[in-house]
Amino acid sequence: MKELKILLVIVVIVGITYWGIEPLAHSIMHKHIEEAIEKYNLPDYKFSDLGPAPAISGDAAQGKKNFQMFCASCHGLKADGIPAPMDPKTAAASFGVVPPDLSNVASFTAENFLYHFIKDPARASEFKKISMPAMGLDDKQIMDIIAYLKSTAKKIHGAELFKEACGRCHGAKYQKIYADTPADALKKYLGKVPPDLSIIMKAKGEHYLVAFINKPQALLPGTSMPRVGLNEEATEDLMKYLDEISDPHKEQRKKVGLIVLAYMLVMIGLTYAWKKKIWRNIH
Ligand code: HEC
Ligand code: HEC
Repeated sequence: MKELKILLVIVVIVGITYWGIEPLAHSIMHKHIEEAIEKYNLPDYKFSDLGPAPAISGDAAQGKKNFQMFCASCHGLKADGIPAPMDPKTAAASFGVVPPDLSNVASFTAENFLYHFIKDPARASEFKKISMPAMGLDDKQIMDIIAYLKSTAKKIHGAELFKEACGRCHGAKYQKIYADTPADALKKYLGKVPPDLSIIMKAKGEHYLVAFINKPQALLPGTSMPRVGLNEEATEDLMKYLDEISDPHKEQRKKVGLIVLAYMLVMIGLTYAWKKKIWRNIH
């Protein structure tokens, strides 16, 4: 009985250190982060500060015409055979960043975010110096473009999603993924070179990352990372990817850990039985 009690005490202490200390440390060391997350209720996949998109059903065919007129001078859309209008170097020199290909953007970006971004990029991205201009399109024109973007978008995952959503600014060099935009152009445009994201999950943790990507200005006031409006599904997919690449041996380690635990349990059982056997003769 006594052994059981000791075991119980140990289990409780280990449990508290394992599950309790980290959140405690977080709430003490990262107080302003927790406060911002609470204040803005992050992640907010409705992007409620922007409001809804207008209830107009768009026409994809008209949207394609609008796209060619208003967007194709900067953006490619490979899925529909529209090539990038400039090579990356020229684009980076003109805009500070290579405008992304928009083939799949509607699959990983929240719809109301897209609407507000096209209407007023600086407001939606919360980055005043963003180099995509507001073009004065009316709601119908924008919703037509969104219908067109939806018609070409397929769901993408992992590395592909990372490249299309973040790759114009960020690389993941351990995965041999390099930012589309040359570093010196980014530095000029954003004031600093965006960090490599290979091991960002280890450095920052999912709790922080999910909130930061959702609303960078809330956690790093004054930051030059634009809000990019990822929807919930894409954020989760991206988190899984960032977790995998930041710790490629995690699964393997978990398996080994389980085997070691099982081995120790068996040994404890055997030791206990052995002890009982010896003491039986003495009592
Ligand atoms: C003058 C060039 C220019 C034009 C014209 C332009 N864009 Fe952009 N666009 C950019 C640049 C540059 C970026 C990247 C900005 C950044 O990340 O700081 C961008 C980014 C985007 C993004 C990514 C937003 C995100 O959440 O990451 C979308 C979507 C987009 N543009 C849609 C459009 C649509 C639709 C049109 C036409 C109505 C259009 N753009 C016209 C330059 C342009
Ligand atoms: C237009 C360029 C741009 C795009 C697109 C962009 N970022 Fe960033 N990102 C930055 C910059 C610049 C910083 C540095 C911010 C700072 O220190 O103020 C940054 C910083 C970060 C950080 C570090 C935050 C911290 O607290 O240190 C993370 C994580 C991050 N980005 C993730 C992403 C992800 C994920 C995506 C795609 C969904 C993305 N970014 C898209 C420019 C960008």
